[in-house]
Amino acid sequence: MAKYIVVGGSKGIGAAIVADLLQRGCEIIVFSRTKPNAESIEWHQIDVATTNIFPEIDQIDGLVYCPGSINLKPINRLSTDDFLNDLSINFLSAVKVFQHYLPQLKKSPNASVVFFSTVAVSQGMPFHASISAAKAALEGFARSAAAELAPIIRINVVAPSLTDTPLAATLLNTDVKKENAANRHPLKRVGSVSDIAQAAVYLLTDAKWTTGQVLHVDGGLSTLRV
Ligand SMILES: NC(=O)c1ccc[n+]([C@@H]2O[C@H](COP(=O)([O-])OP(=O)(O)OC[C@H]3O[C@@H](n4cnc5c(N)ncnc54)[C@H](OP(=O)(O)O)[C@@H]3O)[C@@H](O)[C@H]2O)c1
Repeated sequence: MAKYIVVGGSKGIGAAIVADLLQRGCEIIVFSRTKPNAESIEWHQIDVATTNIFPEIDQIDGLVYCPGSINLKPINRLSTDDFLNDLSINFLSAVKVFQHYLPQLKKSPNASVVFFSTVAVSQGMPFHASISAAKAALEGFARSAAAELAPIIRINVVAPSLTDTPLAATLLNTDVKKENAANRHPLKRVGSVSDIAQAAVYLLTDAKWTTGQVLHVDGGLSTLRV
């Protein structure tokens, strides 16, 4: 039975990934600050931004890192702390967990890692300077790590656009905001957790000849002009 760590598997896209992997009969270990609803998983209460201590796990077949931020501000209001906080949760903590479990990933014959970026890396968007810089760092890291660790570990990235999760709640909390957000996308809706989770699970499990890729699951926003 394949065993995966889902960092941030308690809510949003991560919870949908956990549900999908459980249906496939996988063994799941979740790290998060609050308790997940899912049953039949191993849960560790961990704040990845503040700790360097992680549970001992013998071998894993994959790792998904979900924690992220949406910190939208004009450039003149972005402080150094804003940049540091966004880098910490989106990039540095992802690298920290990845480095910690590298030996355990190397023991698997089919090891795979999935990180999350954002559409705002490939498509310039006002007020996204801090988050897009942090996620761009993660994309660069993922490509380099994919090269360094091929053929032992596949490493890919999913880059969503606006998706209906707790993280995006304040951007979708009125009908007008929802309609405007849907209309900005060529496919005329925002993402659902299953849209994004399906892509992540595909990269994690079935995409055996895919590594170093950024999969844009964004309703067409990064590539189409309609
Ligand atoms: N939603 C969007 O519109 C959108 C758009 C583009 C990119 N993304 C990216 O997609 C990824 C998933 O987003 P999401 O919307 O599903 O996020 P979410 O709703 O905030 O869920 C994030 C998950 O990470 C966990 N988490 C957050 N901080 C943590 C910490 N310090 N330590 C441990 N666990 C932590 C949360 O659980 P606890 O709170 O229990 O710790 C939760 O399970 C993120 O990287 C995000 O940047 C999302």
